[in-house]
Amino acid sequence: MTYPSLRTPLFAVAASLAISGLAAAADTAKPTTFSKDVAPIFQAKCQECHQPNSIAPMSLITFQDARPWARSIKERVSTRQMPPWHIDKSVGVQKFKNDMSLGDDQIDTIVRWVDGGALQGDPKDLPAPKPLVTDNEWKAVRDGYGPPDLVVRSSEYTMPAQHQDVWYRPASALDLTEPRWVRLVEIRPSSLKARKIIHHSIAHLVLKDDPDSVNTGTATGPGGRGLGANDPDAIVNARPQLMEWAIGKGYDLYRPGTGKLMLPGESITWDMHIHAVGEEITGGSEVGVWFYKKGEEPKKRSYLIGFTGIDRTKMLDIPPNSMAMTEGFTVLKENALIENFQPHFHLRGKAMQVEAILPDGNRQMLSYVGNFNFNWMTNYIYDDDAAPLLPKGTVIHVSAWYDNTKANKNNPDPDQWVGFGDRTVDEMAHAWMNVTYFTDDEYKALQAERKAKMPKVTNNDDRQQ
Ligand code: HEC
Repeated sequence: MTYPSLRTPLFAVAASLAISGLAAAADTAKPTTFSKDVAPIFQAKCQECHQPNSIAPMSLITFQDARPWARSIKERVSTRQMPPWHIDKSVGVQKFKNDMSLGDDQIDTIVRWVDGGALQGDPKDLPAPKPLVTDNEWKAVRDGYGPPDLVVRSSEYTMPAQHQDVWYRPASALDLTEPRWVRLVEIRPSSLKARKIIHHSIAHLVLKDDPDSVNTGTATGPGGRGLGANDPDAIVNARPQLMEWAIGKGYDLYRPGTGKLMLPGESITWDMHIHAVGEEITGGSEVGVWFYKKGEEPKKRSYLIGFTGIDRTKMLDIPPNSMAMTEGFTVLKENALIENFQPHFHLRGKAMQVEAILPDGNRQMLSYVGNFNFNWMTNYIYDDDAAPLLPKGTVIHVSAWYDNTKANKNNPDPDQWVGFGDRTVDEMAHAWMNVTYFTDDEYKALQAERKAKMPKVTNNDDRQQ
């Protein structure tokens, strides 16, 4: 806009402002409709789950499907509960490989649609429909990785039509005769029907005779062994997660040259959250494993570490009807690249923050989730160039908050004291992070590689951009 000269009579200025104001008003007055404005957003961000053969309680494909839910949609979307992506957008790393969140403009559009009467608009404006899920395919097969080398199945659970949620934890043997390096893993429900009831599914690899893979709160990384059987961290780290799956998630392909080692005699334990959907369904999970070819084994192993959010000398004690906070500190004994963040709590979990305290005293915020929801085990996978690269001696500082009041909708009983434990009604707090360690030379080379990509990077804070 050009500024009016001083000689322009005032009324002319006022008139021109009024006209541009009118034009803007006319623009926003164009009604926001389902067909033109909202359907493309639902297609991109909601329908993977909100379709007939999927987990969500209702489909969001047609106008008729969506209209009755308009108020609930506005509520869930404007509070950022849906899609289930709960990482704070104002601090920490912001680039992720699997970001399913809505942009502010998309939230505005949905809210404007509901506030404007949730109109249908002209069906001719609808985008071409997106193909629905009609078979229980492996996504990795679809993407050209070929069939899995090994498939491990869980036993199945029969969920009645009406029932409260169940956490089903069977074990499966791992049929291996020699050590193998894993390149890619994918979990899927055991059938198309099972997709409706399996809310999420975690496969833990139960380690055996493998001291290198054991990491404790005080001894992290290769060489950081010596985990006592009574150490509470053993519950977490001797049984690291192989993969977590929830509807909408694909497979985990490890970074080039890195992988996970599986040994004969190890087994898988499952942790499945199963949800009744109004019809009796029997189902379980299976994990597909794609190995590195012999002779092409990776040089680097990635370790899944549960960085503790609890100081082991103080343990955990959450009084009834109250909030509590704990924090844990873990020293990285090697240079490390952190690939993801998955906050882990049970029913009282409320918020988790992970910060790196660098050897020079600087602090770098990695991630913060302020409205943790136990129903959603979302794993936030950092973009390759945004994944925190940290020098040895860095302290990983995890802060955890718990809500044992009735304001927490997942709280089964706010009148109970809650302590540390493995049961869902006990509590624990750690940040699951996949870590790859580097020698000093490798670390310097990686740093240089990043600097070359982002010439302006001069200090650690900039890595978060
Ligand atoms: C990863 C799967 C997934 C995605 C993506 C997803 N939803 Fe959901 N949604 C669910 C599930 C499962 C539930 C039921 C459990 C819950 O409420 O958390 C749900 C619940 C809801 C509800 C509450 C229904 C009620 O009972 O009142 C609304 C509204 C909703 N979703 C809207 C959306 C919208 C709009 C989007 C896209 C912008 C979206 N969801 C994306 C899985 C998903």
